[in-house]
Parts: sequence; structure tokens; C-alpha cells
Amino acid sequence: MAPAFLRLMAWGIEGETRRWRGAVARRPRRWFRRLSVCALGGSLLAACSGSEVTHLPPGPGDAKRGEKIAALAGGCGCHSAETGAPLSGERELPTPFGTFYSSNLTPDRETGLGAWTDEEIDTALRRGRLRDGTTEAPVMPWYAYAGMADDDARDLIAWLRTLEPVRRQRRADEIWIPLPRLAFRAWVILFSRFTTPPRSAPSEPHARGRYLVDHVAICGDCHTPRTVFGSPDRSLAFAGNAQGPFDEVVPNITPNKVTGIGNWTADDIVSVLEMGMLPNMDSVSGLMAELVDGVHGAPGYAQAPLADLRAMAEYLRTVRPIAHAVRDSGAGDD
Ligand code: HEC
Repeated sequence: MAPAFLRLMAWGIEGETRRWRGAVARRPRRWFRRLSVCALGGSLLAACSGSEVTHLPPGPGDAKRGEKIAALAGGCGCHSAETGAPLSGERELPTPFGTFYSSNLTPDRETGLGAWTDEEIDTALRRGRLRDGTTEAPVMPWYAYAGMADDDARDLIAWLRTLEPVRRQRRADEIWIPLPRLAFRAWVILFSRFTTPPRSAPSEPHARGRYLVDHVAICGDCHTPRTVFGSPDRSLAFAGNAQGPFDEVVPNITPNKVTGIGNWTADDIVSVLEMGMLPNMDSVSGLMAELVDGVHGAPGYAQAPLADLRAMAEYLRTVRPIAHAVRDSGAGDD
């Protein structure tokens, strides 16, 4: 666990980053140097501390239940490329830090997860630590999955093991981050807030909605803008991102009536998650459509239990409304 002062530092840095973003755009080289120094300093701190481990419950996972968790996770779609088998990886993930390529999650022994133990997969999923002890790039949202319940993680892993093994070598990332593995380690210290995940997911609807939104369906991972360090800007939680992944505009889904979806009912939100249908009868497109439908036959939100979609929709209506326009005309129910 990182000491409190590090967290305070991270909080301060996050607050500053919106101001820095403009400065970085104006003087990229100087900022590149500063970021490198930060990364090195953070790495030294990182070397002195370790992150918590997670524990899977004993006994085999329930793959059928795991399929529902996968559906709620949008089918882990970042691991499915345009061509090839679902979840066999090699999807191009462009970020401001360069292009990452996702890994093969099928049970192939050499190029996938076939030779990994459940604990190793879990550590990568919920703690961002790979088998060789290095830290995974935070392009994989393990910092959000970190709160996934032990039962859900175990069952999701059991479902991954039922996939057809596909041989597909991971492509090397093309990124410009100096000393990337150390930089990612530093990122863990500064920006991830690990809490001990619950043994089982909450069942009370409000708590369940919040849990699913934050730790399984990870709505905020796209709908919350990022700081210059690529960490979610918590002061704008769910308020949309004008430059989201793949340069898509990700709408504000807070209950703000002008720039968000404050005029929507919970049913309207459920329709988006269940059918990809907006209140004006248009369909969502791009990433959101992928999450709803699942990629190449993998499950998506549409296959998740309706009660869970509703719990997420009801919870979203209770988050802090934030005025933040990401579209020229403002996001809304037009
Ligand atoms: C991988 C990124 C990503 C994730 C994760 C994601 N969304 Fe989206 N979402 C988008 C994008 C991009 C759009 C815009 C789609 C379009 O323009 O057609 C969108 C659109 C929406 C809309 C329509 C809003 C409007 O004003 O048109 C709603 C509602 C929504 N998402 C809710 C959610 C919820 C709830 C979750 C979690 C259960 C979620 N999203 C997870 C990327 C994402």
C-alpha cells in the first residue's frame, strides 16, 4: 500500500494536470523531459514498495457465471482485433503515449494464457502484475478491475479457459515512454487506488450498480477524461471525453441536464445497454456498439442480466451531475 503522502501527491498532481495539458501542447519537448524525470523518480519510490496481492476463492470457477461477468465487461473487447478469433489479441490501441497491442487471452499454451495459473491471470487482471513480475501498462484497466469481487474474478477466469485456443503472438508495443516498465510501476504508486476487493459482489441494487459500473463494466474508463498521465480525472467522473479512445467522442453520462443525460430515464439508459438504442431511436456506434453487441461473437452488455443493466442505469442517475460539454451541441437526448 502506498503511503498516504504519495496519495496526497497524486491528488495534487491530478488537480494540476488540466492546467498542464495546455502547457504540454505548447512545449512538448520540455514536458517530455519533465515526465521522464517524474517517471524515474516514481520508479525509485516504486522499487521501495509493493502493491497488495489478491486472493481467489478455493475451488473451480463457474464458467457459465463467468460468461455473464464477461458480458458485463463488454466481452473484454479490447482483446479482439478486427480480424481473427475473439480475444486472441493484437488489437491496436492507440494512446497519446504510442500504440499498444492487446494480448491473447485464449488458452493457447505458448502465445495465450494456457500455461498461466489462475492466480497469475488474476494478478494480471486485478493487480496489473505480469508473470515475470513486471507491471502491465495501465492501458489495460486493471486499476479498475482491482475492485472486482473474488468470486467474479475466479468465474471470469474459468470462462476464459473455455475459449478455443488460438495461436497468435503478441505484437510489440510501439510507445515512446522512457523506461516503460519502471514508468508503469511508478504509475501504480501514484495513480492506482487499490482497495481490498470484496469476496462476493454486492447484491443490494444501488451498491451492485455502483460495483458493476466501477469494477466490471468500467463505464468510467471511457466516459471519464484522462489527465496528462493517462489516469482518469476523478474530478470529471463520467463527464465525457472529447478525445476518447480511437479518437471517438465519448459523451457525458452524468445527470447534468444540459451537457449530460439528466433528461433520460433509467429505462433510456437500459435501452442503450441492452439494444444500443438511443432515446431518439438512433443506434450507438463505434466502441459503445462493440460493448453492447460483443466483438466477433463474444458476449457484450446485451447478454448481461437485465437486472444488472438496470442496477447500473439506476446508479448512474445518482452520480454527481457535471456540466462538461464534449460535443459542439452538448451531449443529450436530442
Ligand atoms: C470502451 C469505451 C466505453 C465504455 C467502457 C463505455 N462506453 Fe458508453 N459510449 C462510448 C462511446 C464512444 C459512446 C458514443 C457512441 C456514439 O457516438 O454512437 C458511448 C455512448 C454511451 C451512451 C449514449 C450517450 C449519449 O448521449 O448519446 C450511454 C448512455 C453510455 N455510453 C453509457 C455507458 C455505460 C452505462 C457504460 C458502462 C456500463 C459505458 N457506456 C461504457 C464508449 C464507452
